[in-house]
Amino acid sequence: MQTRLSVNLNKVALIRNSRGGNNPDLIRVAKDCEAFGAEGITIHPRPDQRHARYSDISTLKAVVTTELNVEGYPTPELLEMVLEHRPHQFTMVPDPPGVLTSSEGWAIKEQASFLKEIIDACREKGIRTSLFIEPTPARAEEAAKVGADRIEMYTGHYASQFIENKSKAIQPYIETAKATLDAGLSINAGHDLNLDNLAYFKAGISELAEVSIGHALICDALYFGLKNTIQIYLNLLR
Ligand code: PXP
Repeated sequence: MQTRLSVNLNKVALIRNSRGGNNPDLIRVAKDCEAFGAEGITIHPRPDQRHARYSDISTLKAVVTTELNVEGYPTPELLEMVLEHRPHQFTMVPDPPGVLTSSEGWAIKEQASFLKEIIDACREKGIRTSLFIEPTPARAEEAAKVGADRIEMYTGHYASQFIENKSKAIQPYIETAKATLDAGLSINAGHDLNLDNLAYFKAGISELAEVSIGHALICDALYFGLKNTIQIYLNLLR
């Protein structure tokens, strides 16, 4: 199965915001990522809008020709923007305001009615939904019960255990991927994926629909350039 590479532009937005102007221009970078082969663009606006801003959703939606994936905690404000501008996918992440980065998946059972209501609202607008989860088969089954289209497996644990024991590190992800497919959902993954650990992850989970990669890819682009870097990541997925 072909795995789509969605480039997360949060770090690009962070540089933009640091000087208050529009350099680098997120629109231009998004278009270039697509021209260089990326099959999706991801942004994750957080409540303090320190990197991607809510207003980036509408401007990117107008230009992205592959797939726009908006990630984030479904606050009323973010949900309103998502329902209005209809990105192709809304990945719901349970990150509290002010957190440095997402570091855990949903407790789906405890939040079932909250999540189901949002998933239903997105479905009515034709927006695909994905729930950010820990790599546990039970979470995949719960995601299916609340009606999500996909899950995004949080790969932070995989990345941190990869160097020590990669076959052990990937095991829970293989089991969760199987449970996800059995439940009729598709599989996304993201967080801390990089040039070292991506190919092994893809080899172990061939039915991966999409990976979203930001931090490592933008860091690599400093050395290899954006075009080369995207090509290298794409090659690791093929
Ligand atoms: N997926 C989710 C839900 C995220 O919050 C992030 C970080 O914004 C990523 C994927 C991408 O992680 P990284 O920047 O480590 O590649």
